[in-house]
Amino acid sequence: MRSHYCGELNASNISQEITLCGWVHRRRDHGGVIFLDIRDREGVTQVVFDPDRAESFALADSVRNEYVVKLTGLVRARPEGTTNPNMRTGEIEVLGTHLEILNAAQTPPFQLDEHQSVGEDVRLKNRFIDLRRPEIQQKMRFRSKVTSVLRRYLDGNGFLDIETPILTRATPEGARDYLVPSRTHQGSFFALPQSPQLFKQLLMVSGFDRYYQIAKCFRDEDLRADRQPEFTQIDIETSFMGEKDIMAMTEDMIVSLFKELMNVDLGAFPRMPYSEAMETYGSDKPDLRIPLTIVTVSDLMANVDFKVFSGPATDPKGRVAALKVPSGNALTRKQIDDYTKFVSIYGAKGLAYIKVNDKSNLEEGLQSPIVKFLPVEVRAALLDRLDAQDGDLIFFGADSAKVVNEALGALRCKLGDDLNLYTCKWAPLWVVDFPMFEETSDGGITAIHHPFTAPSCSPEDLKANPLTALSQAYDMVLNGTELGGGSIRIHQSSMQETVFELLNISKEEQQEKFGFLLDALKFGAPPHGGLAFGLDRLVMLMTGSSSIRDVIAFPKTQSATCLLTQAPGEVSEKQLKELNIRVRKPVVES
Ligand code: AMO
Ligand code: AMP
Repeated sequence: MRSHYCGELNASNISQEITLCGWVHRRRDHGGVIFLDIRDREGVTQVVFDPDRAESFALADSVRNEYVVKLTGLVRARPEGTTNPNMRTGEIEVLGTHLEILNAAQTPPFQLDEHQSVGEDVRLKNRFIDLRRPEIQQKMRFRSKVTSVLRRYLDGNGFLDIETPILTRATPEGARDYLVPSRTHQGSFFALPQSPQLFKQLLMVSGFDRYYQIAKCFRDEDLRADRQPEFTQIDIETSFMGEKDIMAMTEDMIVSLFKELMNVDLGAFPRMPYSEAMETYGSDKPDLRIPLTIVTVSDLMANVDFKVFSGPATDPKGRVAALKVPSGNALTRKQIDDYTKFVSIYGAKGLAYIKVNDKSNLEEGLQSPIVKFLPVEVRAALLDRLDAQDGDLIFFGADSAKVVNEALGALRCKLGDDLNLYTCKWAPLWVVDFPMFEETSDGGITAIHHPFTAPSCSPEDLKANPLTALSQAYDMVLNGTELGGGSIRIHQSSMQETVFELLNISKEEQQEKFGFLLDALKFGAPPHGGLAFGLDRLVMLMTGSSSIRDVIAFPKTQSATCLLTQAPGEVSEKQLKELNIRVRKPVVES
């Protein structure tokens, strides 16, 4: 229907007769002439209709925003003084000679350039209109480029794109499963995959050597800005490659992607052990753009006359740590109170601080609600350890190591953002040497990555010291977001059984849930390993979006619903009967 896209036209088209198809972006009546800005996916062109052509002029007068039109006209230079350097097509305009309305549109629930004045719920309910906004169109196009570049990279490196089932059994990745009832096996359920983990391992057992898939994953978990119940992984698995080789190749893939699409040079990624990340940044995904670090001071606080500090300082699971904010002295009481409230989200019971006014005067030069509890030698040792200078402020966390890490880790990121402390735009790294397991609140243990991750030690050592054993897992982190994670897998059934036992999964349950994996490991499983990137998070970071919802065409809300289709929805009595399912009345909480 068209000869050109609207956004493609420029001075080289002057004097050409062209045909455009698109949406009326804006209509302006300039006393006698009508201007229509016509929009398609490539951009906007200004079209002028004058009364000389009465029929098309009358039609142009009648159209409204978001009507779909087709028009023919002559490209000409804009009159002197009316060019628009901010527009790709700003040097030209089209003198419309013929206009056809292909479809009318009701007044949209919001104007595209006024999207900020309506709530996200209105935009998600009318996502087909929201998606017309040039910013979102750009993001979706960028996303398509990302998958295209990554596919090219993986294809070029001998990876095979193989699909794995969506109707399957539970694949444990730490979230709840989405379940699908089976009609033909009443009372039985499929689980949607939390990841293709087990299938990609089976593909290695089958000898495919290098696999990838742009895979939909489903996880019923609490949602945040960087989590959706349904998301996409760039999922990768290889055989006969070690940890270092897999990391080197996937790092090269991400470096090439940034170079090609953004001309950004990410450089070589540093590698940081998990223990260092937790100790120094309070997080297993440290944002290295922020120069603040967390410093342990438990030893200095063990004998002070302040139970809040001496308790955790002498408890093996406790931690007392300090976070120095250079020139933080300027923070007001109100700001400190707000930060105290902020850390309470993470379970911190307070946020002690010291303002260093004059470090040469340890008696009077420190301003703080807790300094009275600290002997002068402790004050001196503290300032020395933190290399504190006049004008600095030091925050403290004292609690279980878990609470201190989470609270000070989050505070570090918040301060970085609030005080704009960023030292660079991009800070990638690998976090390595994760422990195999962590303790759960009920005293059990759970896999930190997933139960198919290989330990760095023998089964005997693993059994003897499960909580201190390290795994061969690695996470790629960018600007404080976990972009991807993977590991070398267990490829021997005896080791896999040991891990299941440690996780308190009985022999019967092992057979019932993972019998096919244990069998496969007995029939010639090669050493293998891989990794999966979160595509949505990757695109979110690359496009500078604040939520992954902005880079997903049809995202779900924070409460895991689709406002557009009203999913999830009720189903008919007939469907339920076929499935032999009776719905219990939801429990109303009083
Ligand atoms: P993991 O669970 O770490 O590993 O997931 C890999 C990556 O997927 C992304 N991701 C998510 N993105 C959006 N919404 C979510 N709810 C969500 N959950 C995870 C993250 C994460 O780094 N099978 C293993 C990978 C492997 O071992 O090869 C796995 O799924 O960016
Ligand atoms: P309090 O003794 O409760 O008046 O607290 C004295 C100071 O210690 C206040 O600034 C509190 O915010 C702070 N504080 C209390 N509990 C903790 C804690 N667990 N970690 C860090 N600071 C704390």
